Amino acid sequence: MRIHLSTYLLIYLFTCLLVYLFTCLPISLYTCPMFITLEGPEGSGKTSHIPHLVAYLRKQGFTVFPTREPGGTIISEQIRDILHDLKNAEMHPRTETLLYQAARAQIVEQVIQPRLAVGEIVISDRYYDSTIAYQGYGHQQNLDEVRALVKYATGGLTPDLTILLDLEVEVGLQRKTQNALEWNRMDALTVDFHKRVRAGYLEMVKQEPKRWAVIDSNQKWENVQSELKRVIIARLKK
Ligand SMILES: Nc1ncnc2c1ncn2[C@@H]1O[C@H](COP(=O)(O)OP(=O)(O)O)[C@@H](O)[C@H]1O
Ligand SMILES: [Mg+2]
Repeated sequence: MRIHLSTYLLIYLFTCLLVYLFTCLPISLYTCPMFITLEGPEGSGKTSHIPHLVAYLRKQGFTVFPTREPGGTIISEQIRDILHDLKNAEMHPRTETLLYQAARAQIVEQVIQPRLAVGEIVISDRYYDSTIAYQGYGHQQNLDEVRALVKYATGGLTPDLTILLDLEVEVGLQRKTQNALEWNRMDALTVDFHKRVRAGYLEMVKQEPKRWAVIDSNQKWENVQSELKRVIIARLKK
């Protein structure tokens, strides 16, 4: 008996439907992808808070993937080394800006987008707002030009929630030196530079208040951690 071509087509379509019902549909129904970024001046607590947040959220049953910028992929980590190397003090702000975008393009394509596509929560230690704050406001480059580069590098991927850990510049830098943490080329820029960065962050919060949440980082670490959890859970429940 000859099977008609349309029967094959029906079998194919039915198989596709089954695959969709058992794989893609459950993912989209039972997971809520969210892209959360932590921003703030040096020493404001981004790196030390993230592992605890991730552990907490995983305990609550969320699938969470932490990452950092610049870095988070083999290529981006190599670019990070160039950007942070104290020997590269002569680096021009435009070179710096472009290197950050190169590292960012790679992590967006290789890590962040794929994780969000399967419904995970991605928490990043810095993202493109750092470029607006540091390379834009800090180095006083043309903000529209910097924004255009950022858009190109990210393909337009914007965080769902960005948390600013706000802190006086001197307090943050003192925390880093006191605790003998890594001191890189960006940390070593002038206090005035870091003050422009902080002012830039605060300006960005005003421009996009719905995306940003601000937490005062000049309080006990445990209090900052509780506030972070509260803000993130509130957004996840929305
Ligand atoms: N609220 C806080 N109070 C006191 N020390 C803190 C607080 N938050 C962070 N620190 C300390 O400051 C240092 C810098 O924190 P870190 O998380 O590396 O900041 P960032 O990644 O924002 O530069 C670390 O030694 C950290 O333990
Ligand atoms: Mg850090």
